[in-house]
Amino acid sequence: MVKYIINGAKPLQGTVCISGAKNAAVGILPATLLVKGTCRIENVPDISDVRLLLQILDEMGAVIRRLSPNTIEIDCSHVRDSVAPIELVRRIRASYYLIGAQLGRFGHAKVALPGGCNFGARPIDQHIKGFEAIGAMVELTGGYVVATAPADGLQGARVNLDVVSVGATMNIMIGAVLAHGTTIIENAAKEPHIVDLANFLNAMGAKISGAGTDLIRVRGVRALHGGSYAIIPDQIEAGTYMAAVAAVGGDVLVQNVIPKHMDCISAKLREMGVKITEYDEAIRVTRTARLRRANVKTMPYPGFPTDMQPQIAVCMSLARGTSIVTESIYDTRFRYCAELNRMGAAIQVDTKVAVIDGVEQLHGCDVKAFDLRAGAAMVIAGLAAQGTTVIEDVHFIERGYENMIEKLTAIGADIRRVEIPETAAVRTAG
Ligand code: UD1
Repeated sequence: MVKYIINGAKPLQGTVCISGAKNAAVGILPATLLVKGTCRIENVPDISDVRLLLQILDEMGAVIRRLSPNTIEIDCSHVRDSVAPIELVRRIRASYYLIGAQLGRFGHAKVALPGGCNFGARPIDQHIKGFEAIGAMVELTGGYVVATAPADGLQGARVNLDVVSVGATMNIMIGAVLAHGTTIIENAAKEPHIVDLANFLNAMGAKISGAGTDLIRVRGVRALHGGSYAIIPDQIEAGTYMAAVAAVGGDVLVQNVIPKHMDCISAKLREMGVKITEYDEAIRVTRTARLRRANVKTMPYPGFPTDMQPQIAVCMSLARGTSIVTESIYDTRFRYCAELNRMGAAIQVDTKVAVIDGVEQLHGCDVKAFDLRAGAAMVIAGLAAQGTTVIEDVHFIERGYENMIEKLTAIGADIRRVEIPETAAVRTAG
């Protein structure tokens, strides 16, 4: 069992460097299956979701070389048309990109239904709608998605998504890259990682235009070739450190960011009284006075990201006045509020709305990380709180944050990672 122990209420000062974007990496790595040749990928975050995907690709026959902690070479030329190991696939939501990648490469995919963070029903009907539109036959049998292309191959088509879905947009792009003709994705998601996946595929010879708008055109090509690509910085990791400075107080330079991607988060923090200074590839965050209340509603990009909702809620818990958070992407993403209330926050949740009465101080206690971003919120709350916070189930946090302990320690936090052997943990629990 691994826990984080935080002694809070210490202002944050210094510089933090942001890693490559998780949600771009988890799309780009499966997409390397489409490439005959070696892909050299830089700025790959060393996080457990990425390690899992690399393990899956390795077991499928990819040749993977780690040139440095964040630079990887992958050659999928000799990958077999095989079923990715179910016990690995089910541990990560992004394994759904294997469906598009295997379908595109082999004309056939059999992938276990994906796992990942649990915040309500997370259907993949829009992914399937896209694959069917380009000619695949898709069945759900025995916990697997089985997709089969017609004998004469996938055929480009027009797909109008019923909901704006990051995963469906990326998966359909991956599936359509090697199809005959042109695929048009309407009502596409516009997140930075969608543009990053398109840029990666184009660097390997694909012909994708319009990524970053709601209409993406994928002109099918016969083959993709090897090449080099560097993944963009992680918008949500950057936003998490910005929210930490806002909640805890201090003055931190957040480096290796694309400030444009942070617009919505920067604007909200400014509204709450945080000083944000933008540079070409960095943002300085300064908070000296108490935060002001604000409201936030999660929206697809360029709106406020649902993946920043728990972190901003911690800031609001410490702001003067009453703030309202409306979650419009997921059905249940407020489970962490009960943990914050145990730390002294005053949050009332009614289905998709949280009403947050700001308090002057949070108090450390034992809490759980319910999912990746809820876990990040617990870390921020622990850093801001008086006393000691112990966070359990931090494996969720480690799915998406590279070297979080080291990065926070370098900016003045008192945070430790402790591993407790299972037998000792059971004895303590008993
Ligand atoms: C991705 C991100 C996740 C983020 C989310 C929203 C990855 C690996 N994960 O998840 O961190 O929280 O975007 O920014 O990139 N939906 C359907 N049918 C579908 C697909 C989605 O109804 O086929 C619904 C979902 O239930 C949800 C909404 O659409 O309500 C958005 O989901 P989507 O953008 O697809 O999220 P993910 O790709 O799963």
